[in-house]
Amino acid sequence: MKRFWFPSFFLAALIALSLSCGETTTGPGEAEGYYLGAEACKECHSTAYHEASLTKHFNTFVDDPKNPYDFVSAWKKAGEPEYCLECHTTGWDENKNNHGADEVEYRKGLLGVQCEACHGPGSEHVKGGGDAARITLSYDAGVCGACHTGDHNPTYGEWKQSEHADALNGLKSSSHARDSCLLCHSADYWYDRTVTLSTAQYGITCAMCHFAHGSNFEHQLREEGEKLCALCHTDEGARPPSTPHHTQDEMLLGIGGYEWPQGGPYLNSEHTYVIDERCIKCHMYMKAFEEGKPAIKGHTWKPRIEACRECHPGAGSFNIRGAQKNIENLLEQLEAKLKQQKNPKAQDYIYAKFDHDFVVNSGSRGVHNYKYAKQLLEDSIEFYTPSGDGAGPHRVVRGR
Ligand code: HEC
Ligand code: HEC
Ligand code: HEC
Ligand code: HEC
Ligand code: HEC
Ligand code: HEC
Ligand code: HEC
Ligand code: HEC
Ligand code: HEC
Repeated sequence: MKRFWFPSFFLAALIALSLSCGETTTGPGEAEGYYLGAEACKECHSTAYHEASLTKHFNTFVDDPKNPYDFVSAWKKAGEPEYCLECHTTGWDENKNNHGADEVEYRKGLLGVQCEACHGPGSEHVKGGGDAARITLSYDAGVCGACHTGDHNPTYGEWKQSEHADALNGLKSSSHARDSCLLCHSADYWYDRTVTLSTAQYGITCAMCHFAHGSNFEHQLREEGEKLCALCHTDEGARPPSTPHHTQDEMLLGIGGYEWPQGGPYLNSEHTYVIDERCIKCHMYMKAFEEGKPAIKGHTWKPRIEACRECHPGAGSFNIRGAQKNIENLLEQLEAKLKQQKNPKAQDYIYAKFDHDFVVNSGSRGVHNYKYAKQLLEDSIEFYTPSGDGAGPHRVVRGR
């Protein structure tokens, strides 16, 4: 029996820990102490304070006379309902007397989304002279999800359905997983390179794409929206004989496939030129809330047909003019030919296999760049011969 005995404080700590883990999905968690307001953080965290003070978060309560759609105007127009303040102020928690904005006498210093909205009440941290153990620091999307939720702002709910939310599990399910893979699969590692596969906790959370304290780009993004996705959805310059993964950025640009010297010309679809917002245009379609219809915030990253209709009026599916079907057919033909190869080291086999994977791993079956994908597959089918020696009737010269 004795071996299973735990000191009661240890048990209490375990329970508190499990509670706070569950809790972090809706706010900064069960931090002790009371709210102070951002002015109390300014002295020791001048950089964070300066950055955060420029954000919409901090300024949501600043009346902007030039913007009739800002929070203050909308709130006044709606008759100043109190429930709006739950997400537009700091420390709203009616179950606790911890000097949050729900307690009227403290409200004035806590208007807007300030530091402690994400880090929890700061009194104990400050009393401890900046004791890091007594303040919350988390990459959990649930911290943001406490407010970015509901029919008007369903961002968190959308994100939860996305593959990004699952990116750490996705990685862990791979037998090739290494710590360095975390760079594109986990927010923890991105901020803290001491994190490993076994200690990482989160996938691609809000904080991996948005800088919580603000950034030089719109929507506090870590990179311009048009370039953001390409930080990870890139083949990273893969060349034969390696396997190209997540080739979306290169496919859209029309680069990176194995271009057969005797083939081509390798032209691009109009998508390469006319879609300035790039990935976001098709994968992050947004629509404002309407009565009875929740807003769409694009954070599932699933492409939506509404986005296509702007340029392809009346489109009923992504298979516009049978393009996806054509690519599928070409892939089938190429696969049948690849299967006949007896010598996997044959040079032209390696090239054709590379183009096959390049197209498949772009994931859109031709939508990203129909002309480029089609040409790569047609040339692979034409110029690759499964004779086994890699020479074939059309000897392939590497490079051009
Ligand atoms: C559940 C939390 C929550 C509640 C409750 C809430 N909001 Fe918001 N509100 C948000 C979030 C999050 C955003 C930012 C949305 C975005 O950009 O996706 C926002 C944005 C806004 C904006 C846009 C501000 C701008 O400058 O573009 C206005 C206006 C607004 N809210 C008004 C209100 C009003 C009025 C109420 C009460 C009737 C209210 N909100 C209640 C979370 C909330
Ligand atoms: C919208 C949520 C949010 C707000 C508001 C916010 N933070 Fe943070 N903070 C985070 C997140 C998420 C991280 C971890 C990611 C990072 O380092 O940017 C963080 C990191 C930090 C860190 C440790 C890393 C560093 O930058 O030194 C400090 C200190 C900090 N915040 C202080 C503050 C202070 C002070 C304020 C107010 C002036 C503030 N934060 C406002 C979410 C927030
Ligand atoms: C007396 C100075 C002081 C004040 C005031 C102060 N901090 Fe800190 N804070 C620190 C120091 C020092 C650290 C770094 C601790 C470390 O790295 O061990 C820190 C670290 C942090 C961290 C990172 C914790 C971690 O786990 O790495 C956060 C978040 C933070 N502070 C938020 C706040 C907020 C919010 C306020 C205002 C309510 C605030 N601080 C007020 C000194 C202060
Ligand atoms: C206490 C509630 C609350 C929390 C917690 C919160 N937000 Fe917000 N957020 C808001 C509100 C309210 C707005 C709208 C402010 C406005 O436009 O006036 C907003 C706006 C934003 C915007 C729009 C900025 C822009 O320039 O378009 C981004 C991005 C954002 N939040 C990301 C985050 C992230 C990331 C986190 C977590 C690290 C987070 N928020 C945590 C309430 C919150
Ligand atoms: C920090 C790296 C990173 C960034 C930035 C990023 N992604 Fe991803 N994305 C991933 C990873 C990793 C996965 C795979 C997750 C899994 O399945 O486990 C993924 C999955 C996806 C999926 C689902 C793929 C599937 O197989 O169902 C889509 C769609 C997607 N991302 C689109 C985007 C778009 C659009 C952007 C830019 C707004 C973007 N991503 C930004 C890393 C990233
Ligand atoms: C350059 C960024 C990046 C790096 C580094 C990276 N990945 Fe990924 N990974 C992605 C993206 C983006 C996706 C989504 C691809 C898609 O759906 O087309 C993904 C998807 C995956 C998936 C599919 C997940 C699922 O749920 O099906 C696995 C498995 C995976 N990666 C494993 C790894 C391994 C193992 C490593 C390290 C050897 C690694 N990744 C390194 C960006 C990266
Ligand atoms: C894979 C990267 C990525 C992740 C993860 C991500 N976002 Fe975003 N978010 C974006 C991009 C890109 C935009 C800008 C889209 C555009 O310009 O149309 C955006 C826009 C926003 C906006 C502004 C919306 C508006 O109406 O203009 C808010 C608010 C926001 N994100 C909050 C969040 C929150 C909260 C989370 C986590 C639950 C999150 N984001 C996770 C990439 C990301
Ligand atoms: C012209 C619109 C469009 C653009 C631009 C676009 N995509 Fe796509 N994407 C699609 C469509 C359509 C699909 C296929 C969806 C289907 O057939 O279910 C797709 C598929 C994907 C997939 C695989 C999804 C899955 O479920 O397997 C990923 C990942 C992806 N795109 C990422 C990106 C990235 C990253 C960019 C920018 C470099 C981008 N896309 C640009 C429309 C677009
Ligand atoms: C900004 C405008 C724009 C958007 C948005 C857009 N496209 Fe296109 N797309 C074009 C143009 C222009 C062409 C070339 C002219 C044409 O063939 O109609 C094209 C061509 C195509 C082709 C090649 C068809 C062929 O036979 O050559 C496919 C497939 C396609 N688009 C699918 C989509 C899908 C699916 C979406 C939405 C997920 C989408 N597009 C969104 C502008 C757009």
